[in-house]
Parts: sequence; structure tokens; C-alpha cells
Amino acid sequence: MQIITSIPELCKLDNTALVPTMGNLHEGHLSLVEKAKSVAEKVVVSIFVNPLQFGPTEDFATYPRTFEQDCEHLEQLGVDVIFAPLITAIYPNGMEASTYVQVPQLGEILCGASRPIFFKGVTTVVNILFNLVQPDKALFGEKDYQQLFLIKRMVKDLFMPVEIIGMPIVREADGLAMSSRNNYLTVEQRATAPILFQTIDNVRDRLKTGERDFAKLEQQAIAKLIEADFEPDYFKVYRTDLTIPTSNDSDLVILAAANLGTTRLIDNCQV
Ligand code: PAF
Repeated sequence: MQIITSIPELCKLDNTALVPTMGNLHEGHLSLVEKAKSVAEKVVVSIFVNPLQFGPTEDFATYPRTFEQDCEHLEQLGVDVIFAPLITAIYPNGMEASTYVQVPQLGEILCGASRPIFFKGVTTVVNILFNLVQPDKALFGEKDYQQLFLIKRMVKDLFMPVEIIGMPIVREADGLAMSSRNNYLTVEQRATAPILFQTIDNVRDRLKTGERDFAKLEQQAIAKLIEADFEPDYFKVYRTDLTIPTSNDSDLVILAAANLGTTRLIDNCQV
């Protein structure tokens, strides 16, 4: 396994899948790597905590960094290349002066409404990573549903020659979606955290049995989360293309984001 930290060392490999990550790898990431191995000859995993996608009051400085451990896991999985660039290699002119890529409208709702620079940072860095690695395929987790959706949109709109593969959410035994940010939770918050998924699951059951008063379902879910000590950001039932559904729609996704203390958790489920 090669560990590459500088850009001139990177050269295009044939039949490659890229798994972009910010490190602190958990089973969710590892499932992306396993899938990548099954769809391509070479697998590149990037590890880059991207400062451009963190707001000024967010957790860039404290985001868990476990590079050595990540490398060990990836070596065991038979990854070919880890690409772990410095911030100055990715943004040589500084972040403020860098060219960026932004998906309008759909990048401004849900997580984009409360984290206004988040998706601009994500689509910009993913674009840079695609240009550097030139993968044939790239894999992302469905936990970040809106992120995956926007990346697919960017790739389509800009005619980028890469196939995007989304992979199902990997959950802890109690239903909590795996996330590096789960590390921030106190023991008490960790015990509460699965209520986010349980609330989504309950709404999914009700949608499946034909309930169609989306506003009522959303309000009840928000109330349940507040009662459990969450500070909900949003709880929405949308069409899978992130537009607002009517009662005739059946292709739905439930999306939620809520804070537990200072930790932001997101989750979703398609119906
Ligand atoms: O989902 C993530 O870990 C990040 O947003 C990504 C896609 C690696 C871009 O920095």
C-alpha cells in the first residue's frame, strides 16, 4: 500500500475507485472500501479533513484524526493508495481565493440552510479529488443523503466522467447511524442518540401504512425529539429528489438533523 501526501506523486491508475473520507474510519467507510474493491482493480482512499466545509464555529479543530489507525485498517483491507494531502496542497492560494464549485438551490435547503458553506466545501473538494485521482468510480455513504444527491448532480451538470456509487447506511446494533461525530457523545447522550433513528423509523412505518399528512408527521417527530433532549434542526419528508411531495407521492425519503448537546447528528431513511 502506498501512502501519498504530495500531488506530483499522484498519477492516474487504470480502473480505479476512489473513496473520499475525512479519516477516523468506521465500519461505514470500510463498507465503501469493500464495495470499491469489488467494482474496480485499484482502490484509492483519500483522507483529508477539508477545512472549506466547516463553518467558523464548527468542529474543524477537534474533528477526530486517527491517521495511523486508519492506515492500518486500510492496509488490512488491501487498499492500493491512501492519498492524504496537506491543506496547502489542495488550496495553494488559500481557501478564500480558491475557485469553488457550488450546486445552487438544492445545496441551500436542509443541511445547507443551517451550514451555509458546507456543501460548497464538499463539492469543491470532491471536484479537486476527482481531478487529481481521475477515478472511474467514486463511493459515498447514503447517511449523507443530501451530500450524495448534490455530488451526483454536480457530476451530471458538469459532465464529469466518473460513476457515483451510493452505499447503504451502516448502523450500530441499536440503530444509531455510524458517524465519526458519535465519538463526541457522552455516555448519556449515546444512550439517547438512537431515538433519532427510532423517530425516523416510526414515521416510515406510518407513511407505509398510508398516512400522508406530512406536516403533522414532521411536527410530531420534532416534538418527540425535543422531549428526548435533542435540539432538532429539521425533520422532513421529501421526495427522493429532495423536492416537496404531494399526498400522491410514494417515492419518499425522511431526513433529519438534530443536535445532542453540541454534537450534530444526521440520519435518513427511504420509504
Ligand atoms: O462525507 C465526508 O466525509 C466528506 O464530506 C467528504 C465527502 C469526504 C468531503 O470532504
